Order: sequence, then structure tokens, then C-alpha cells
Amino acid sequence: MTAIGIHDIELASTHHVLDLAALAATTGVDPDKYRIGLGQDEFSVPAPDEDIVTMGATAALAVLDRNGLEGVRTLLFATESGIDHSKAAGVFVHQLLGLPPQVRVAEIKQACYGGTAAIQAAIGIVQRNPRERVLVIASDVARYALDSPGEPTQGAGAAAILIAADPALIEIEPATGLFSANVDDFWRPNDSSTAIVDGKLSISAYLDAMTGAWDDLAAQGGPAISAINRLIYHQPYTKMARKAQARLAEYTGVELGDAGLAEGAVYNRRLGNAYTASLYAGVASVLDHESGLTGKRLGLFSYGSGSVSEFLTGVVQTGAESRTDHFTSVLDSRVPLSVPEYRELHARALPSDTDVVTPRVTAAPFRFAGIEGRARRYERR
Ligand code: HMG
Repeated sequence: MTAIGIHDIELASTHHVLDLAALAATTGVDPDKYRIGLGQDEFSVPAPDEDIVTMGATAALAVLDRNGLEGVRTLLFATESGIDHSKAAGVFVHQLLGLPPQVRVAEIKQACYGGTAAIQAAIGIVQRNPRERVLVIASDVARYALDSPGEPTQGAGAAAILIAADPALIEIEPATGLFSANVDDFWRPNDSSTAIVDGKLSISAYLDAMTGAWDDLAAQGGPAISAINRLIYHQPYTKMARKAQARLAEYTGVELGDAGLAEGAVYNRRLGNAYTASLYAGVASVLDHESGLTGKRLGLFSYGSGSVSEFLTGVVQTGAESRTDHFTSVLDSRVPLSVPEYRELHARALPSDTDVVTPRVTAAPFRFAGIEGRARRYERR
């Protein structure tokens, strides 16, 4: 059977960053609640001329620069923070990257799980024709109400992932564990720019879904826990991965300690929640910060509130050895915001019925130029 999986992965984020210590100082919260209690140091904040399209296109540009366009006939864009009820955000990326017309584009939604759904669809396409490669983009801006418990777990980021036969980085294995259940833990009504969340319920729903998906993985003939060398989890905040690993250890009766958790959290501690991109930021973080993984098996747990979840496994390939951390310098280059500046940006709402010209702020290759006749306009910077 053809080996199919992740051939390349690149991350992108925003122009601005908020230091959680500054937020804590303003709100009178002990900064250790964020740093240790949630396991978060900062979160990314988009400039007025940035959004899921500009982040996704920036990440995808790097992937296509390295790998070319050959065989790419599908672009799947996964997001919770869609910019149009009808048009796929990926259509704007298609234009910005100058992709040929012979590329199908679609958007996939199921909270943070959407990126994994896109990857599974991509694997199906490559399975049918191994000469094809699929560009998956997972891109999100996580927004909660100011002064809500979710506020320190906001963030933004994108992952562009090239799915191909004979992948350079990770061969995704066929057995997969699924668990879906209708639960009101987190959702975002069509007229709301911030999520509605029952924090405590979301944590228990996540952990229950994980053990449910684990059981299904076992039922589908997946590997035993002892045959998995590293576990990487969806990280709405990095402490959640610690909770998940502790629960899985308890559930399977196997000591897992905190192996791999620090390596998988390097980027996420600084991005904040990037919803669909969060698990794949964790994957990139592990590949970029741990050596000697070739031939080792990764277990990936993907959770999307609402809820749909999946436990999948993959084997690290030799190409991962040449990866280095260049994303930390991207994160370092973000421009810090004061808390009042962040709050002003948070409150900013795009009018729905008048034209908008956005200020030029981003240093990324692409920018959201504004709205003209109710249609969004993007441009190369
Ligand atoms: P909260 O009520 O502000 O926090 O909300 P808390 O009081 O539960 O404290 C958090 C942790 O900090 C606790 O540790 C405290 O003990 C600790 P834990 O019991 O969890 O181990 N703590 C301290 N530690 C050190 N020094 C201190 C200190 N003080 C307290 N001084 C909550 C926390 C996560 C609920 C909130 O931020 C929230 O609602 N976040 C949004 C929802 C969320 O992220 N849920 C996660 C699971 S659902 C999911 O992952 C899906 C999602 O990504 C959406 C999607 O699918 O699209 C969200």
C-alpha cells in the first residue's frame, strides 16, 4: 500500500502579540495562573489588515516555494473563524498564490477538528491518485469576550500542510479512532465574533472524547500505547495536553509521565489557541525540537468542540531530521501590544454595509486590503 502523509508543514501567525504577564498586571490576576495554570506565555493578535486568509497564504507560500506546485489539484481550507458564510477562504488564497484554475478549493468546518478532517479527505484523494498532492491550510483567530475566562486562551495562527505519497515527514497510518457527540461546550453563532464556551464542560468533553477515540483506535486495530513513542494533543492552552496525557496514562494504566509535552508546547505557549492549526503547531514543534524521532510513532489527538474528535497515528520519516526551528524567530518578530492597544483592536468590528480601507500594518507577504461593494479584497504587499 502507498505510504501517504505529511510531506511538509509550515506555520504562520500575526503581526502583533500580547504578553500574558501584561494582561495579568492589568486584571490583577496572578501571572502564574496563566504561565503555570494554563501553560501560556503570550497570544498572537491580528493587525487590522490580517486574518485567516493572510496567515494561511503566508504559511502556504513557504510550502509551495519549497515543494513546487506539481500534482497540486486540491486546496482544502479548514477554519472555525470563516470570513464568509458562502465563499471558501481558500479561494482568496488561490488568487494570492497565483494557483492555476485547475485546483479545486473548499472549506471544512468543525471547530478545531477541521484541520484533521481536511487531512483525512486529502489522504483519500492521494490514495486514489498518488501523483496528486493536496495543500491543506488550517487557519484561525481564536476570540473570546474581554474579561471572560477564555480571554487568556485567545490566539491566532495558521498551518499549511502538504499531503503526498511517500511523505518526507510523517506517514499517517490507516487505523484511526473516532468519537463524535453533540455537546454544548463551545460554539459560535453566526452573528457572534466571539465564542460561547462552558469552560469546565469543554475540558471534560475533551477528555471523555479522547478516551472514546482511544477505544475506537484500539477497536480498529491501532497500535498499543506502548508502541506509541510521542503523543501530541490539540492544545487550546498547553496545560490541556498535560491533562490529556495524565488521563490517558490513568485510562491505559501505563506510565506516560510528561514525555514530549515540553517539546510539543514550544510554539503553542506563544501562539495561544490557533483552533484548527493548534494540533499541527504542536506537531511542528515536536519535529523542530526533538531529534532521533525517525522511525518513531506519533499519536495525534484532534478535538473540535461540539464535538468531533480523532486519534490518529503516524511514523516519522527521515526528512524530519533536516527540520530546524525557524518559527521562534517569526514569533520573536511580532510587535508587542499594550493592553489598551489590544483591547482597542479586539473591539474593532468591520461594518457590514460600507466600504472599508484597512490601515497598512502587517509585514507579512499578503494583506487584507479592505471591503469594496461588500466583497473582501486582498493583495500582495
Ligand atoms: P478559569 O476558570 O479562569 O481557570 O478557566 P481555573 O480557575 O480553572 O484555573 C486554571 C488553572 O490554573 C487551574 O489548574 C488552576 O489550579 C490554575 P487545573 O486545575 O486546570 O490544573 N491556577 C494557578 N496555577 C498556578 N498559580 C496560580 C494559579 N491560579 C490558578 N496562581 C478555562 C480556565 C480553560 C476553563 C478558560 O480559560 C476557558 O474557558 N478557556 C476556553 C475553553 C477551552 O480552552 N477549553 C479547553 C477544552 S475545549 C477545546 O479544546 C476546544 C477549543 O479549542 C475550541 C474548538 O474546538 O474550536 C476551545
